[in-house]
Amino acid sequence: MASPKIVSASDPRNIEAAASLLKKGGLVAFPTETVYGLGADAFNTAAVCRVFEVKKRPQFDPLIVHVGDPQEVRRLWQAVPPSAEELIRRFWPGPLTLVLPKTENVPDIVTAGLSTVAVRMPKNRHALTLIECFGRPIAAPSANLYGYTSPTSAQAVLEDLGGVVDLILDGGLTEVGIESTVLKIESGKGVLLRPGGVSKEELLRILPVSESAGPDEGVCESPGLARSHYAPWTGLWLVEDSYAEFVKELAQVHKVFEEKKVSWPRLGLLSFAGQKETALFESVEVLSPTRDLTEAAARLFGSLRKLD
Ligand code: TXA
Ligand code: MG
Repeated sequence: MASPKIVSASDPRNIEAAASLLKKGGLVAFPTETVYGLGADAFNTAAVCRVFEVKKRPQFDPLIVHVGDPQEVRRLWQAVPPSAEELIRRFWPGPLTLVLPKTENVPDIVTAGLSTVAVRMPKNRHALTLIECFGRPIAAPSANLYGYTSPTSAQAVLEDLGGVVDLILDGGLTEVGIESTVLKIESGKGVLLRPGGVSKEELLRILPVSESAGPDEGVCESPGLARSHYAPWTGLWLVEDSYAEFVKELAQVHKVFEEKKVSWPRLGLLSFAGQKETALFESVEVLSPTRDLTEAAARLFGSLRKLD
């Protein structure tokens, strides 16, 4: 197995090396503004097939095609409706993925056999330089093992895929930190398939948007809506009480453990704005001390990985 390789995305020679690997059907991890992607030539069936293999991703979960120029969509989609044109004008480059009926140019493996293809233009200079240098669209899922949290650093990619990826372009921590919003466009209306970097409110200024039925209602329009996704290996509980309330109750349980001389489990706390120090937790990660949602999103996956 080739040795894992992290190189700086700022060096043009590394971008060239990455592009030439892609041309040969290789897999290159690269930064985007959302999370790191595991890239392959979108028109090379064998290369895309390897993406599924190394991620251990089920064949039914389609990939996003990344373009460096909005004009590229004409090769990928059958038509570009006016609502899509407006969304592209407003949000590209940026964390919005649009899903529309595909042309025959797009291999079926990219879309997992679906008749639509998801496309986005990332807002990251390294990603855009790579696509330009390569000269073709890049199919890329997030560069993590299937089901696990998405990588927001080159190091996180290395942890998951170091042994199987050909090259990792290091562009530092990703800015947005959560994935792109995935929006399917049907008859001028939007169906939200995955929440992400662009909010529903922002989209609503341009077109009507409905929520996807999701897996619970029996239809799963986007496989990425699967019940378990972006999950750490360690069990995770969502606490909806206030921080103070929760810690108070936990302290009571802790006291009982002490009285009965039962050893306290190893707990980690992922807190939005709570304190850093507490005797109850082995480790505490605070997402945003100032309660800033953008900052919290940027830290979410990195913090989950750290606690894991
Ligand atoms: O921010 C992002 O979108 C990152 C970066 C690397 O661009 N990519 C990413 O890709 O998150 P991935 O493969 O982890 O998630 C793609 C999501 C999945 O939920 C998938 O089911 C959905 O997009 N998707 C892709 N093509 C689709 C299609 N034709 N119809 C419906 N959903 C689709
Ligand atoms: Mg993913």
